[in-house]
Amino acid sequence: MMSHKAPFITFEGGEGCGKSTQIEILFRHLLQVGIDVVSCREPGGTKGAEEIRSLLLHGDGERWTPTTEALLMSAARADLVEKRILPQLEQGNWVLCDRFTDSTLAYQGFGHGLGYDSITALNHFTVGTLKPDLTFIFQLNPELGLARTALREGGKDRYEQFDLSFHTKVEKGYEEILKKNPERCVGINALLDIEMISQMIFEEVCQRFEI
Ligand SMILES: Nc1ncnc2c1ncn2[C@@H]1O[C@H](COP(=O)(O)OP(=O)(O)OP(=O)(O)O)[C@@H](O)[C@H]1O
Ligand SMILES: [Mg+2]
Repeated sequence: MMSHKAPFITFEGGEGCGKSTQIEILFRHLLQVGIDVVSCREPGGTKGAEEIRSLLLHGDGERWTPTTEALLMSAARADLVEKRILPQLEQGNWVLCDRFTDSTLAYQGFGHGLGYDSITALNHFTVGTLKPDLTFIFQLNPELGLARTALREGGKDRYEQFDLSFHTKVEKGYEEILKKNPERCVGINALLDIEMISQMIFEEVCQRFEI
């Protein structure tokens, strides 16, 4: 049972696994069938949160300690939730979000080792009772994901500079999140082709939310 008036769907997974590609396809698909939907990305999505995003994604890996990083992510998220996600859901619009609380669990909790319990507490403080109704977790060997992002224009962001062992811990974190939340989370084999993944996602969404 949803605690808000419209579905809130998040896309999660390591670098280059296809989240942004698929959120864009689902967004267009939902518009085509007449659903009022907005899409946002984390960190970012409001003026203030986009400013925090550039602090987080630029500069060298050592720029922030893991704790500062977790707090900056959460500060950006609190702004996005209060100013955009909750008001949109309240109006009955669907919200799709590229990364959410599970990213902080996987990256700061598992990748940087801050731990599941402390990040879970931080996430609660940040978003209150808001929880995604459905989360797609893209599963991909981090080596392949990083190879995909290396092909993209614009150079490496801060996270793409962290070493493979960091990204392997992130991937393990996502596996753990998937196991702990079997109702909310659906694993996606990110090796499948874009078209096939988008069909699977749309079918899952249609089934869950009866469209
Ligand atoms: N299923 C797929 N098979 C092969 N390549 C893909 C697939 N999905 C996306 N790609 C390509 O992989 C690259 C990364 O995709 P995308 O930007 O969607 O990933 P992302 O998860 O949003 O990455 P990031 O975590 O860096 O934001 C892009 O060049 C995209 O075209
Ligand atoms: Mg992306």
